[in-house]
Amino acid sequence: MDIATPPTNPNDNPELADAAPTPHDPPVIRREDYKPFPWLVPEIELHFDLGLEATRVVSKLTVARNAKTKPQDTIKLEGDGLELLSVKVDGEPVNNWSMEGDDLIVPLSSEAHEIEIATEIDPSANTQLMGLYASNGMLCTQCEAEGFRRITFFPDRPDVLSTYRVRMEGSKQQFPILLCNGNKVAEGEGDNGTHWAEWHDPWPKPSYLFALVAGDLVANSGLFTTMSGREVECNIWVRKEDLARTDHALESLHRSMKWDEETFGREYDLDLYNIVAVSDFNMGAMENKGLNVFNTKYVLADPDTATDADFDAVEGVIAHEYFHNWSGNRITCRDWFQLSLKEGFTVLRDQLFSQDMRGEAVKRIEDVRILRAAQFPEDAGPLAHPIRPDSYREISNFYTATVYNKGAEVIRMMRAMSGVERFREGTDLYFDRHDGEAATCEDFITAIEDGAGLDLSQFRNWYRQAGTPTISVRHEVEGETLKLHLKQDIPATPGQPEKQPMPIPLRTAVHSRSNQALGEEQLIVLSEDEQTFDLPLAGPDPVVSINRGYTAPVIVNRTLDRADLVFLAARDDDSFARYEALQELAVAYLVEAASGELTEGERVEGRSAITEAFRSILTDDALDDTMRGELMMLPSETYLFEAMATGERKADPGAIHAEREALKAALGRDLASEFHSLYDRCEEVAFDDPAGRGARKVKTQVLVYAAASDPAKAAELAAHQFDKADNMTDRQGALMVLCGLDAPVRTDKLKAFYERYTGNALVIDKWYTLQALSLHPDVIAQVEALADHPDFTIKNPNRVRALYMAFAGNPLGFHDASGRGYKMIADVILALDPLNPQTAARFVSPLGKWRRIEPGRAALMKAELERIAAVDGLSRDTFEQVSRSLDG
Ligand code: BES
Ligand code: ZN
Repeated sequence: MDIATPPTNPNDNPELADAAPTPHDPPVIRREDYKPFPWLVPEIELHFDLGLEATRVVSKLTVARNAKTKPQDTIKLEGDGLELLSVKVDGEPVNNWSMEGDDLIVPLSSEAHEIEIATEIDPSANTQLMGLYASNGMLCTQCEAEGFRRITFFPDRPDVLSTYRVRMEGSKQQFPILLCNGNKVAEGEGDNGTHWAEWHDPWPKPSYLFALVAGDLVANSGLFTTMSGREVECNIWVRKEDLARTDHALESLHRSMKWDEETFGREYDLDLYNIVAVSDFNMGAMENKGLNVFNTKYVLADPDTATDADFDAVEGVIAHEYFHNWSGNRITCRDWFQLSLKEGFTVLRDQLFSQDMRGEAVKRIEDVRILRAAQFPEDAGPLAHPIRPDSYREISNFYTATVYNKGAEVIRMMRAMSGVERFREGTDLYFDRHDGEAATCEDFITAIEDGAGLDLSQFRNWYRQAGTPTISVRHEVEGETLKLHLKQDIPATPGQPEKQPMPIPLRTAVHSRSNQALGEEQLIVLSEDEQTFDLPLAGPDPVVSINRGYTAPVIVNRTLDRADLVFLAARDDDSFARYEALQELAVAYLVEAASGELTEGERVEGRSAITEAFRSILTDDALDDTMRGELMMLPSETYLFEAMATGERKADPGAIHAEREALKAALGRDLASEFHSLYDRCEEVAFDDPAGRGARKVKTQVLVYAAASDPAKAAELAAHQFDKADNMTDRQGALMVLCGLDAPVRTDKLKAFYERYTGNALVIDKWYTLQALSLHPDVIAQVEALADHPDFTIKNPNRVRALYMAFAGNPLGFHDASGRGYKMIADVILALDPLNPQTAARFVSPLGKWRRIEPGRAALMKAELERIAAVDGLSRDTFEQVSRSLDG
């Protein structure tokens, strides 16, 4: 292989230096500038000579002019940190290529060519975990969104689809298992203890779906027979010591495959489905065609090491990545602005799957809780963007709760408006019409319009506009009807001062409080700024139950009497509406209390209404315990922050925390006997009883209230639960409560937990998180000490998140009035940025809340953002998030 002349770097040439964007002003990419690529790359052949420190990559591209574009006499192939060894065109070495920044420009004169490029990379030095990297002695890849260019030069964009043939070769001892996308077509032995495998993926795909894994792995395997009778070999690949914890993942995969056939008519399209678990991973998991790569956190689960919630997360993520095979892989995105096309739709699909597996009501509440805790703050802050963004500097920053969770809600609204059957006709048409293409959100909307028979012209505003709409509700009675007056307001967001009204579907019913009658539900669609709806009355004292099932991702602003909320919480026939009424009761009280708006008399009154509502929750025999456990949770401090920071009012996290703790204490005190009999009943339920899950959830909730009202008793109960636990759910719940208490048993049990699970990275992550989340008064010092503990490493994203993401979500520690919490997160960003910018940038948004917080803390937060912004050589990722957070 001939070594080419070293690439020219324009930054070395003073005359050209201006042409390349400096790292401090990375270019803005705009959706409206989309242009198709002038070349097609129908086929690519890759050869990997694998080594942990040095991997050689030879790539052969078959290219042909794209007839739909203006002919170009060069091809631009993106690269990132590659060492270029040689370039050949049509079999002949050439040196007429040039570099444009990191990208390779090759002149091409005819209609079609073969380009061969050799590069070398060092996977062991890849701390970004993008491209090909080493993890625990194995080699693996992560290419979405723009990681393939860190492996070889390529048009690394989702609208260039190619079929891949890959040959990989390496030490048989180091890498006994060699995996890639598609099917294995050949394998054999090489010289000097090497072996090789050749893989072929028949489905054309964009480069971001490429994957390769080489390492010492074992599989839990099972066959799945598809609806048309084909057999698919499914493998969950892990390190040998983890094999015993893979059954749940394999079963979840089989359930997902079956569900997608039954619910969306989608069948799997290869004979092989591989999932590999890796311990160093920036995200949760990745849907590479036929070879998903997963964070171990979303694969490994057994009752001794994983909680019920962990089991649910594994099932949900396995389903999500599997569902991408159709919504993402068979139909991919034209450009990254269309990300919600695959992610929003796939999140909806995984949510519907989990609803079917575990029960609709509780899953819906969980999903709304996530939306409110993660997406509402984003939509109300400096990083607000539409589900289909208009511009970005670094696409990794747009894998957001808005694109994912609001994106799912937007499609869920289409489903609510069309009905489940018509919606299915819409998705059938979408899958049929765009199979094999790189599509846009617009294509999806049109297919749903055509297939489901909806007119979505105004609905498209949901794709264009950022900001959570607020709906103001008023009503009056006129004879036999209730006149419901609704008004929508969409707040201004960065770059979008003016908004257009959007269609907002709301499932609504009018009940009667005095004769306890439940009205019939109907779907109304608010599409104007202000609109009045006539609804039938069910009797006197009407109570409006609106946005039932949470049909629209909006904030409903209604001023219901306490008595009405208590009625809805106890009697509504929609379980989401019951939950919502209880939340509203608590939010209204806590926000007013934290804002100092309540007299002592009003406080007593407010607390007693909540206590009565809680009493009925604790004692209602008709309630299932998983739902009871859900209803027992007070609104989170993050959500209260949102509710408090409205209009001119700023949030005061200190006051929110104090009031919420005080309410917990009052409930714990006033309902002590109800709580304890509930605990005793639940304690009798065995682990594998079908009612066990609900019982475990309720038990830990009881401990939470006890901790606030009677810490000594709570310490005793929690220690007891910890000691006799035969599963991680009980153990972790007890330890979580102990972590917030200033009792000697806290130290003992933390130590016992650590010793029991030494060496189990995922459980040690929990040990970190529990302490970082704790309400202990010394939490900041404890987190500092944990960072010095020998088990801490900044190189492992799970460990970094376990400690610092948890801490950034700890309202007490992060918002400590001294500003030490803010400084700690800023320090993490600066330490992590040079190593792993994608993960570093994810820590910026907690600091971005500064505008909506009381002035003392706001100044401290802003100062930390400015300190980061002043640092030279920030990554594109962190630069973009910090500058947006400061500009807003
Ligand atoms: N395609 C993504 C993974 C991804 C995200 C790759 C960002 C590159 C950058 C995958 O399908 C995904 O969405 N994973 C989620 C979990 C899912 C259940 C929402 C994740 O990794 O958090
Ligand atoms: Zn996804």
